[in-house]
Order: sequence, then structure tokens, then C-alpha cells
Amino acid sequence: MASNARLNLTLLGLLIAAATANVATAYTNHTVGGDAGWFFHSKTNTSATNYKFWAANQTFNLGDYLIFRTSTNQTVIQSYNETTYQSCTTDDALDTDTFQYDGGSPEFDQSLTIAVPLTIEGVNYYFSDGDDGVQCQRGMAFEILVRHGNGLPPSLNQPPPPPYVEPPGDPAQSPPVTINGGSPALNNKASAGGIDTGARLYSLFFGVTSLLMSFIMC
Ligand SMILES: *[C@@H]1O[C@H](CO)[C@@H](O)[C@H](O)[C@H]1NC(C)=O
Ligand SMILES: *[C@@H]1O[C@H](CO)[C@@H](O)[C@H](O)[C@H]1NC(C)=O
Ligand SMILES: *[C@@H]1O[C@H](CO)[C@@H](O)[C@H](O)[C@H]1NC(C)=O
Ligand SMILES: *[C@@H]1O[C@H](CO)[C@@H](O)[C@H](O)[C@H]1NC(C)=O
Ligand SMILES: *[C@@H]1O[C@H](CO)[C@@H](O)[C@H](O)[C@H]1NC(C)=O
Repeated sequence: MASNARLNLTLLGLLIAAATANVATAYTNHTVGGDAGWFFHSKTNTSATNYKFWAANQTFNLGDYLIFRTSTNQTVIQSYNETTYQSCTTDDALDTDTFQYDGGSPEFDQSLTIAVPLTIEGVNYYFSDGDDGVQCQRGMAFEILVRHGNGLPPSLNQPPPPPYVEPPGDPAQSPPVTINGGSPALNNKASAGGIDTGARLYSLFFGVTSLLMSFIMC
């Protein structure tokens, strides 16, 4: 009886843990800077808010988005390279680890919203290289730690589009797909095999049981 009660408590604990894990890892859209958005005030030479404080108070998972509510006076640079991040410029950056998201407008002061998916686990860096790096030096820069969470949803299960890459076609030339979680196609094959084996085991079990039953009946 005592061990039964303990088993029930363990089951309850597992259920609660599963429920909390689900809540903690649902995909989230994080509006960068909250209500302040992603802005630099050139008159006062300050960022609209403290982005490092903002980032420190959030949990980021694969499949989440950073939503930059901004204007063309700022830029959105995503990098996986700490040297590039610390330098506040993309002048020496590699195309393979640093990406610029822009609205494509050459005009200043055009408002725009940029959605950046989080597709790589680990440390990700963000900054604006506007005003020749002054924006970044004066606070338009932050780093985040991206956790695994639920892993990438199928819609994002590919690397972010790097600039200046050959269009796919020649398999040897396409960018490597090394995102965690494997390809959905492989997963489907695996689970199809599982169902198949399960069905076969079930009919075996059913056959043996009915054989036993007919013995007992006799
Ligand atoms: C999060 O942002 C992405 C990209 O803009 C969008 O497709 C998605 O619907 C948003 N999700 C929520 C819950 O707002
Ligand atoms: C803003 O700060 C930078 C240094 O980070 C300085 O070079 C520049 O002169 C400042 N500009 C104004 C308008 O104060
Ligand atoms: C983090 O966010 C929560 C909820 O918005 C707030 O209560 C808390 O003061 C924030 N902590 C920091 C360090 O900003
Ligand atoms: C945006 O940049 C332009 C050109 O530097 C400047 O005239 C304008 O005042 C800036 N807008 C804001 C809101 O800082
Ligand atoms: C990071 O970027 C710098 C240029 O900013 C480059 O020299 C360096 O090789 C890069 N580091 C890695 C690990 O790719």
C-alpha cells in the first residue's frame, strides 16, 4: 500500500513536470525592447531602452522570433561571431556567420518591423551598425542564449538564408542542413516503421491469445 501511494505521487510529479515543461517551451515572439522598440535617439546619443537588461529577463528557445519594431535609421545585424559583435561593424564579417535583415528601403525614417527566427542553439548576438557603429557602441547591442526548448518547428527546420549563396539545384552546392532534430522525412520513416512493427507484434499477441483461449475452452 505504501509503495502504491509513492507510485501515485511519482506519477503526479511526472504529470506536473510535463505540463510545466510544455508551458515553458511554447514558441514565443519577443518584441525587442518591449514597448520602447528598437530605436536610437541621435539627439541624446542614447538607445531607447537598455537592451541588455531586456534580454537578460527573457527565456529564448529554438523556433521563437525576435520582433524588431524599428525604422530604417537603425539596422538589425544577427551574428554568431563574438569578434564581429564586439567590433560593432560588419566590415570584416563573414557571410556564413553574420546576416543583415533590412526592409530594403534606402530612405531614412521609414518605420518597419523585422521578424528574426531563432534557428541556432547557443549564443546569438544582435546589434545595429547605424551611424558608423556609434549606435552599437551606445547600447544598440545585446546577446541571448537560445535553448533547445521544443526544437525547431517544421516551418523553420532549415538554416537561415545566408546572403550571396548559389541557388539550390546542385546537391553538392546547397548549404548543409545541420539543424538539430533531424529532417521530418526521416522522422516519418522511423515512426512508420514503428507502427508497422507494433501492428505485427499486436497480431502475434492476438493470435497466441486466441490459441490459448481455444485450449482453455476445450
Ligand atoms: C510570431 O511572428 C511570426 C513572424 O512574424 C509570425 O508568423 C507568427 O504568427 C507570430 N506568432 C505569434 C504567436 O504572434
Ligand atoms: C555620441 O557618442 C560617440 C561615442 O560613442 C561620440 O563619438 C559622438 O560624438 C557622440 N555624439 C553626440 C551627438 O554626442
Ligand atoms: C523581469 O520581468 C518581470 C515581468 O515583466 C518583472 O516583474 C521583473 O521586474 C523584471 N526583472 C528585471 C531584472 O528587469
Ligand atoms: C533618422 O535619420 C535621419 C538622417 O540621419 C535624421 O534626419 C532623422 O532625424 C532620424 N530620425 C530619428 C527619429 O532619429
Ligand atoms: C569571426 O569574425 C572575424 C571577422 O570579424 C573572423 O576573422 C573570424 O575568423 C571569425 N571567427 C570564426 C570562429 O569564424
